[in-house]
Amino acid sequence: MLYDELPAWSAKAAAWAAEYHATLRQRPIRPNVAPGEFLSQIPTHPPQSAEPFENIFADFVKLVPDSMTHWQHPRFFAYFSSNASPASMLAEQLANAISAQCMLWQTSPAATELETAMIDWLRQALAIPENFRGVIQDTATSSTLAAVLTMREKALNWRGIEEGLAGMPTLRVYASEQTHSSIDKAVRLSGIGQNNLVKVKTDSDWAMCPASLQSAIETDRANGLVPTGVIGCIGGTSIGASDQLEKILKIARQNNLYSHVDAAWAGSAMICPEFRSIWKGIEMADSIVFNPHKWLGANFDCSIQFLKEPKDQIKTLAIKPSYLETLEQDRIVNYSEWCIPLGRRFRALKLWFLIRSHGLSGLQEKIRNHIEWAGQAAIEIEKLDNFTIVTPPMFSLFTFRFTPPGYDADTKTRELIEAINADGRIYLTQTLHEGKFVIRFTIGQFDTEKSDIDMAISVIQELAESLT
Ligand SMILES: Cc1ncc(COP(=O)(O)O)c(C=O)c1O
Repeated sequence: MLYDELPAWSAKAAAWAAEYHATLRQRPIRPNVAPGEFLSQIPTHPPQSAEPFENIFADFVKLVPDSMTHWQHPRFFAYFSSNASPASMLAEQLANAISAQCMLWQTSPAATELETAMIDWLRQALAIPENFRGVIQDTATSSTLAAVLTMREKALNWRGIEEGLAGMPTLRVYASEQTHSSIDKAVRLSGIGQNNLVKVKTDSDWAMCPASLQSAIETDRANGLVPTGVIGCIGGTSIGASDQLEKILKIARQNNLYSHVDAAWAGSAMICPEFRSIWKGIEMADSIVFNPHKWLGANFDCSIQFLKEPKDQIKTLAIKPSYLETLEQDRIVNYSEWCIPLGRRFRALKLWFLIRSHGLSGLQEKIRNHIEWAGQAAIEIEKLDNFTIVTPPMFSLFTFRFTPPGYDADTKTRELIEAINADGRIYLTQTLHEGKFVIRFTIGQFDTEKSDIDMAISVIQELAESLT
């Protein structure tokens, strides 16, 4: 394709996109495909000669959508949603047109400075104190890995990056069992090791028990181990649990430990002042991650890491070979020095478009609706025969079980979710909570309406009735 053909094809792609989104409710959320079925339709060898673009586009329309899970479907209540507001889609299109590699200020001045501005807009929107800076990463997994590497190096006085880890003391990181597996991954990949991630026990509300945290730190110290960092959780993936930041970050500070807060999903809700009581103490964190690509409407990928002392992370991650040196070092920021990858996409543009096109009040309205509807849905499900709410709505996530008398509830709940997902009108996923198989119900898709929730409850009731 040549550039002069681009406008017509872009218009066609935009028309296809609008139609796709307008008709999503008519599609099953998950495709009815077997593993390998899609692959069998793709030629096994690349074409030797150029193909007409009509054929390429037609194959996309014919093959791809029907073999995809539709994350933007308004009745997607599984995992955590990964939104894509039209404004942010359009920004991606423009960022793609420029296709800059935003590793250094010099390679992308506007992208770099827009990133600085967007971090600060979001810092204000989430009521994070003014002394925090930040960086846009691809995912929370990368942000958390960067934070764990920084806590490791801080504890080793930056000897690890120079000498390697052989012969270094055993480092210990503390988190509750409600944290996401990306914390485990970061601890593994950092060389600290899974066995040195201490899963501190939780209280009755599934928040990390502060006294247990303190005593784990003391026991480790007494045993010659080196307490290194604390990872707090706001809106855990399984049931939406949150730690009491004010207490656990205070303990981290008193013990001189680096702290990181994973608010990948629920961080977006902090744009609403009424939910911020859970954020109390956030000013004590050293690092915070939240993903605008989950609940805020920026299309994937877009993860924000706020940092109180960026210099610690830069000291850990930055490498400055002569071929990357630029002028004006003291007046600029090179965000690749804050991250693991050198190459960086222009992600700030979609935040700029998103925030301006909705305004904070538009985004707040979406989140408030989702949280209110989740509360109502939990009440409605509890009213149905043979259903039990296992964990109450936390933000917009709750879990439930199908508990008809005379049956094993794990088996029946499993049968129900299989029936729901085979049916295709709604999409839910499961988790294991305190040894019980439960269904997660989470609301977060931007196009969801109250009627979609009502339909979800009818579908759950209808399919449950067919199972007893
Ligand atoms: C609480 C939490 N933290 C971290 C992650 C990992 O996010 P990412 O896919 O951006 O690495 C998730 C993913 O759902 C999550 O729910």
